[in-house]
Amino acid sequence: TVANATGLRTPIVAVLGHVDHGKTTLLDKVRGSAVQEGEAGAITQHIGATAVPLDTIGEMAGELVDPDDFDLPGLLFIDTPGHHSFSTLRSRGGALADIAILVVDVNDGFQPQTLEALDILKRTQTPFVVAANKVDTIPGWKPQEGLPIQQSLDHQSDRAEDRLNEKLYEVIGQMSDNGFSADMYWRVQDFRSNIGVVPLSAMTGEGIPDLLTVMMGLSQRYLKEDMSIDVTGPGAGTVLEVKDEQGFGTTIDIVLYDGTVTGEDTIVVGGKNGPIVTDVRALLHPRPLAEIRTEKHFEKVDSVSAATGIKIAAPDLDDAMAGAPVRVVRDRDVDDVIAEVEAELSDLSVETEENGIVVKADTLGSLEAIANTLAEEEIPIVRAEVGDVAPRDVAVASTADEETNEVILAFNLDVLPDAEAQATQDGVRIFEDDVIYQLIEEYEAFVTDIEE
Ligand code: GTP
Ligand code: NA
Ligand code: MG
Repeated sequence: TVANATGLRTPIVAVLGHVDHGKTTLLDKVRGSAVQEGEAGAITQHIGATAVPLDTIGEMAGELVDPDDFDLPGLLFIDTPGHHSFSTLRSRGGALADIAILVVDVNDGFQPQTLEALDILKRTQTPFVVAANKVDTIPGWKPQEGLPIQQSLDHQSDRAEDRLNEKLYEVIGQMSDNGFSADMYWRVQDFRSNIGVVPLSAMTGEGIPDLLTVMMGLSQRYLKEDMSIDVTGPGAGTVLEVKDEQGFGTTIDIVLYDGTVTGEDTIVVGGKNGPIVTDVRALLHPRPLAEIRTEKHFEKVDSVSAATGIKIAAPDLDDAMAGAPVRVVRDRDVDDVIAEVEAELSDLSVETEENGIVVKADTLGSLEAIANTLAEEEIPIVRAEVGDVAPRDVAVASTADEETNEVILAFNLDVLPDAEAQATQDGVRIFEDDVIYQLIEEYEAFVTDIEE
């Protein structure tokens, strides 16, 4: 874990953006490892957390960052797969991330998941910067390995610089179309009212010193008060993923955003059928600068403190849900902690009605985001749950009062084969997508068809 000698919590940085725009490559560059090369098809399958100590940031940022100017211990970066909804990353009362990087491919510009990420950043009021990535793909660009962007620009031809500027102004224009005022980061005075755009290449590393400088500056300037929390109390976190791990059974990957967790603790975890009370069997930590999702040989640790990513092995975690709260009991009454988790779960749960459609999603956060959008469109929900589409979901949909409700919306998960077969038999339509508004648009087109 990142050292906490200063008594300040490590800020949590979410890295978001459209599929293939370069989120994982960017983090790879920062941590100097090659996670991306080891990924199946270069698609990020899981959310990962990477702690980067201040010293490492200082080294990467070169002359732009002097570690002596900062008293934050470093940054905890959370990589999100492009097809995932960022809304998984939430904690009670808002966003789990303190700050975010929205990665946009300068040539591709804004894409569906860029817009989805922007929506969530707006809703959660998370401060962020735009990383205008892949500047090295600008025709005529001469790569300048690891240099700050202004120094790299000194090496570029006027043509290449003009082409880049054209692309950057398109990005700034798209930000404005979406209700954000944005500018090149070096012209931004107040990063809260104006979003900084940092041109960079995750591949060549040019512009990354600038990005790290801006992130450290943002954290130091605007987050310090929130960071001065007592991280010695009982831990609080959010489940990122529920995973089978050889030798450990079902484990949970969590982001611990407050307090500590030890190998001796009893924890309460949000589950599909209510809170799960269990004893930690092992805390499995990725080494500093390692990536939780590719780390095969976890290091067993006695305790960790916020903010960090940690894998917890414990009995009875099969029903744990991504996006659900995790609480350490420690010297509190277990019933009080159960009540706390129950309250948070009910905050997260979706209002259902007597008649409506069935919604299934991969995480509580994405379920909530879909439910919000459906409510705006006045589309009622009869059942909303986390998990793969199963025959019982089809059974519910098949008893709907009208044809437009004989429907299951499935976000970013699998339809079990027997559910598929039963749906065909019962005439239940299953819509699948990994972009929320596309999923809802497909459903609305279907409704329009029926009505005509
Ligand atoms: P998902 O996790 O699937 O959403 O994608 P991602 O946003 O993490 O993108 P990833 O890092 O996997 O990069 C996608 C592709 O773009 C890979 O082939 C990278 O090598 C390439 N790429 C990423 N950044 C750059 C860059 O700065 N320049 C160039 N030329 N290619 C890049
Ligand atoms: Na990718
Ligand atoms: Mg990725």
